[in-house]
Amino acid sequence: MSKFKKSFHIKGRDFIRAGEASISVQNLLKSMDFDPRLTRRIAICGYESEMNVVMHGGDGTLSIEVDTDRLILEVTDDGPGIDDIDLAMQAGFSTANDDHREMGFGAGMGLPNMKKNSDQIQVESKKNQETVVRMIFFVPEGEETH
Ligand SMILES: Nc1ncnc2c1ncn2[C@@H]1O[C@H](COP(=O)(O)OP(=O)(O)OP(=O)(O)O)[C@@H](O)[C@H]1O
Ligand SMILES: [Mg+2]
Repeated sequence: MSKFKKSFHIKGRDFIRAGEASISVQNLLKSMDFDPRLTRRIAICGYESEMNVVMHGGDGTLSIEVDTDRLILEVTDDGPGIDDIDLAMQAGFSTANDDHREMGFGAGMGLPNMKKNSDQIQVESKKNQETVVRMIFFVPEGEETH
């Protein structure tokens, strides 16, 4: 049973507020005394997943669930979905447009970075459907949350 779960709204295409949800998750974890390296990995994954919703997705939610031996970061958005998940996971693949690239995005490294920085990642999506990305981070034995 999870100890608690907190969710933050993400608004699609809102580049002014982009990043606020992942900063809220990061601040929450900082206040809870987790290993700073673990907090940093989750912050990277939170930021990359929030930017993907803002750029490629619809409106969505970033949530963090704290359990005794793990933390679960989940990002969902209401479309347009990912056509080919295996392709999207490949380093360098991007459908970012010129505006995104001018802002410095579009290297196609967000999903590979999320995979690298999490212990497990699951992506569920289909064209014209919602996208759910779930990342699990194990808390090392002896550092369990109380
Ligand atoms: N939530 C989403 N909804 C729809 N498509 C997505 C979503 N997240 C990722 N994608 C697709 O997967 C591709 C790869 O995502 P990834 O985060 O790896 O790279 P990027 O966002 O294009 O560039 P970068 O993250 O390096 O700035 C995106 O270009 C987009 O086509
Ligand atoms: Mg990205």
